[in-house]
Amino acid sequence: MNESEKLSTDSIHELVKTAIEARRKSYSPYSHYQVGAALLTAGGQIVTGCNIENAAYGPSNCAERTAFFKAVSEGMRKFSAIAIVGSPEGEELTQYAYPCGVCRQVMMEFCVPSQFQIIVAKSTEDYRVFTLAELLPEGFGPANVCEAQNA
Ligand code: THU
Repeated sequence: MNESEKLSTDSIHELVKTAIEARRKSYSPYSHYQVGAALLTAGGQIVTGCNIENAAYGPSNCAERTAFFKAVSEGMRKFSAIAIVGSPEGEELTQYAYPCGVCRQVMMEFCVPSQFQIIVAKSTEDYRVFTLAELLPEGFGPANVCEAQNA
């Protein structure tokens, strides 16, 4: 990725701050693990998500997928970055929360792996930035199926 495509420090701060706010909405009475996400669209909008659990466990949804599904259902399909914060219940963020495999695959559907930036944060000052290609190497995506259809 070239330097101009990398998020500015200010944008990262705003995204992390928004993810921290979104985490307050987490509905996680079973795991008591609260996650918030802030998804940046190519058009510059921020769409938030939190994890939403369920008494039947299986229907639970991760914060990242909540954000993606909200955005796609509103017509947005191009994304630049996502900030994720997660830790056991409480105000303090004690760990970096990396996206689960299912969420990485959902990102693969709508993002360019070498360009989409994933920020995992403990605070606005303490974070790590990865591309989707780094967290999901050799991923299977829409191009595979389309190429197969066109062959
Ligand atoms: N969780 C997320 O929201 N995102 C992830 O990428 C990993 C896990 C949620 C699901 C569940 O509500 C809780 O964290 C504990 O697994």
